[in-house]
Amino acid sequence: MQMRLDKYLCSCGLGTRSVVKRIIKSKRVTINGTTADSSDLKVDETSLVKLDGKKLEYNKYTYIMLNKPPGYLSATKDNNKKTIIDLLESKYQNIGLFPAGRLDKDTVGLVVLTNDGDFAHNTLSPKKHVKKAYIAHIEGNLPPDASEIFKKGVILKDFTCESADLIIEETLSDYTIVKVTIQEGKYHQIKRMFFSLKCNVIYLKRISFGEIELDNSLKEGEYRLLNEKEMEFVKAVR
Ligand code: URA
Repeated sequence: MQMRLDKYLCSCGLGTRSVVKRIIKSKRVTINGTTADSSDLKVDETSLVKLDGKKLEYNKYTYIMLNKPPGYLSATKDNNKKTIIDLLESKYQNIGLFPAGRLDKDTVGLVVLTNDGDFAHNTLSPKKHVKKAYIAHIEGNLPPDASEIFKKGVILKDFTCESADLIIEETLSDYTIVKVTIQEGKYHQIKRMFFSLKCNVIYLKRISFGEIELDNSLKEGEYRLLNEKEMEFVKAVR
């Protein structure tokens, strides 16, 4: 597929449109051995594009792991509130990234951001059984049969959840720490599942998404590109 040279260079991670336009103007880019003198030039995935004599790698899609802090919307744009896109460097702001599965504003932890619609769609499809694991703090105590109820599939007003895994990690004086693994990603799903047991979720953190685990070296608000091993999962789900 043909595309403009500036768009191609953005996808290689060289920076924003204005940054790459400046790079092109300074005659540092060649296409198949010829110096590029305009952002309008057309290239495709087979073109040999070099910057300062070094071959560039074109990435059709970008995949980022973000450790979401509280207080940010899992949206791409909002007129008043901060979104997770605001946490990214400018070179990632205009390449169509969106979250593969949203987290609530107060939920923290793993969000995969991508501009690959097929991958994002498949991770949410019940057919693909992509598991999402969370650590939750539950106010007070859970009913003794909570794990069995989750295993059978919690019945909510509008749908019945697939079987979920609930492990009690620690019971403290005023709250209980649990690990819960679900297979879908419906709106407020975990909070609603616990609410059906008359329990309140007071803290929620996503720790894994399919085979991708939250990198503990990322502080809240930090992110990185998916590594090779994580990309294997992406390829398997696509
Ligand atoms: N379930 C919820 O209730 N909230 C989230 O953010 C994610 C899953």
